[in-house]
Formats: sequence, structure tokens, C-alpha cells
Amino acid sequence: MHILYLNPSGQMGGAEAALLDTLASIREAQPEWTLELIVSAEGTLAAKARSLGVVTTILPFPDSLVRLGDASAGGPAADTSDRFRLLRQLAFASPGIAAYVSRLRRLLRQRRPDVIHSNGFKMHVLGAMAKPRGVPLIWHIHDYVQSRPLMAGLMKLLRRRCTLALVNSNSVGRDVTQACATLPIQTVYTGVDTTVFSPFGERLDLDSLSGLSSAEPATIRIGMLATLARWKGHEIFLRALSLIASDIPWRGYIVGDALYQTDGSQYSLEELKDISRRLGISSRVGFTGFVEEPASAMRSLDVVVHASTQPEPFGLVIVEGMACGRAVIVSEAGGALELIERGTNALGHTPGDAAQLAERITQLAGDPQLRAQLGAAGRATAEQRFNRTRLATELVPIYEYVSGGD
Ligand code: GLC
Repeated sequence: MHILYLNPSGQMGGAEAALLDTLASIREAQPEWTLELIVSAEGTLAAKARSLGVVTTILPFPDSLVRLGDASAGGPAADTSDRFRLLRQLAFASPGIAAYVSRLRRLLRQRRPDVIHSNGFKMHVLGAMAKPRGVPLIWHIHDYVQSRPLMAGLMKLLRRRCTLALVNSNSVGRDVTQACATLPIQTVYTGVDTTVFSPFGERLDLDSLSGLSSAEPATIRIGMLATLARWKGHEIFLRALSLIASDIPWRGYIVGDALYQTDGSQYSLEELKDISRRLGISSRVGFTGFVEEPASAMRSLDVVVHASTQPEPFGLVIVEGMACGRAVIVSEAGGALELIERGTNALGHTPGDAAQLAERITQLAGDPQLRAQLGAAGRATAEQRFNRTRLATELVPIYEYVSGGD
């Protein structure tokens, strides 16, 4: 079996982490299979894929394709003026797209994969346009389609070229069905390496990483790990922290840095630092910047906060936090709801409700036993439902089925 994966971005976001776990899981279960990856840029993804023995080729996007994107990605559906803007952008990008599709088609013909597996909107579209006749194409969809009108429109047009859509939650599945009726859909929950995301292992000194003085021993550490996309809710997190009683010995940490190149849909660290200054909490909030080992950062926290203000398609960080045995507070909307049992393995709060989030943090800060209970139950959930070894168990029969094998 020869599977060829397509990924638009070379940098690590949630979908890229999910792809690496997929590659590792398949590699382990089927060491004789050939796994190949085509990605638009060098970066961490390509390096890590190569280290897993995946033949990796860089097929760079032209600039017009790098910039092509939906204005409201992650937000509500675009209005008419957005649509015009998108069509103009598309018309402008089309020579670049046409050239890219023919290069990709040539490469695919040369490589002769049994299955093509695309892992991001641009590659769903480009893969469908470029794929040789008769080769099954799997779209692995990690985000809501309907909030991206351009991609939703293109995917609807091209849906017959896709054999099967995998989605990372039932919530994303419902959204894809609304956008592309008749497309066969199957949910495959994202998995994590539960030996890396584990309660045991190295910890980071978050204070020194953030340039803060070291905190007193009883300090409760509350952290948020996410890309700086606005809808991830960093501002809600900071506002919640500012509402915690000042006699509670807490510190907050924002772990991560700006990631995507496209538009103004993300915060800069400066902007977030400014917000924390205005809220009067800058001496208690640390910004670590990008960390190589998120598990070590999580192990240094008492509470992991997920604060997305839009429905979260899946919420890898929730599962990672649970796997590290942390008490996790989840923004209750979208696919994230399918991951937790509120009160048993995590706590929840209403998306965007900083006061409620502050209440939950306060509750956990004062109750070490509850933190320990949630952490242990979260760890058990991660082992049972989100261990990445499950990915091969689910995907191998799918690859065999779509490629006509047994
Ligand atoms: C995307 C989604 C995120 C999910 C990840 C892995 O990044 O936005 O919710 O955790 O993919 O499936």
C-alpha cells in the first residue's frame, strides 16, 4: 500500500500535529507500507515527517495561493461583499492555481499512490483538481467548512472527486454534510501520543521562560496553550484571570506564538501583553513564546484552560491536557463537547463568558482534590479514547476499502 498525504502548511498547527500522529500510528501498525507527504513549505512538519521515515517532497505554493484565504475563517459566514472579495482573489490567483495543479498532477502520476489523503482546505481542493483518474481521494477535514465560504463553494463543486471525508468530530461531520450533501463521511477522533502527553516527565520553568521572578511555592498555575488565532479566546482568558480574587496565589501563562501568515485573524504577543497590562495583571501573567515540548509546559500547570469563543472543531489541547493528568476547563461548544464528561474528567464554561471561567478557575484553585480527580479521570479518558494507536486501527481498513483491497 502506498499512501500519499497532502498538507498545505509546513508549520505546526493542530491539523499538522494530528497528521504526524496519523503517520506515526500507521507507520507502526504497517511498517511495510509506503507513506509519502507533499507539503507546500519546509518547516517542522516536513522535518518531523522525514524523521518518521515518510518520503517528503516540498511543492511550494505560489504567493497568490499562500495568500488565498477566507476572510472569516473561524468566524460566522461571510456577507456578500466578502464573497466578491473572495471571487476577485480567486480570479487573481487562478493562473497560479492552474500552474500548481498541473505540477501536482504530474507528481501524482509519477508517484502512483494507491490512496491520496489530503489534510487541509487548500489541499482538499488542489488534490481533487489534480488527482489522476481512479485514485481514491480522502479529505481529512479538521475545521468547520461553512465558516469558509470560498472553500465550502469549491469543495461542493469538487465533492464527487472525493471518495470519503474523514472528520475529527461529529459536530464537524454535521457541518460538512450541510455544505456537501451526498459526501460519505466518517468520524475519526484525533489521537495523541499518550506516552509523550503523560503526567510523568520533564517540566518547564514557566516563570523564567517568561522573564518573571520565581513564584512562591503554593502558587496555582493556570495556562492556555493555543495558536494566537483570535477565536482561541486569549482575551477571555486574560479577563477571567483579572477577575480572580487577588489573595489567591495564582499565576497565568500564555504559551505559544503567532503562527499563520495569512491575515489579521490572529493576535500578536504584543497585543496580548498590552491587554494584560490594561487589566492590571501583567506582573502575574507570563508569556513563554513558542515551546518545543507542549507536554512539559502542561505538566508545569495546575489548570489548563481552553477558551475558544467559536465552536471548537475538536480541541487537541483538551485531550493533551487530560492525557497529562491536568484539570482542564473547556469552552463548551462544537466538537469539544464530544471529548469530555463535564464534572467528571473536565470542567466546562460557556464560550466567551469570562466571569464564569473565572469562577471555575477559582473553584479549582481552592480544591486540590478536585484537580487531582479530574486529572486522573482525564488521563483515563485519553488512554481509552484518544490514544493515537487507535488511528491505525480505524484508518487501515478505510485505506484498504477505498483502494479496493480487502
Ligand atoms: C484543527 C481544529 C482543532 C483540532 C485539530 C486536530 O486545528 O481547529 O479543533 O483539534 O484540527 O484535529
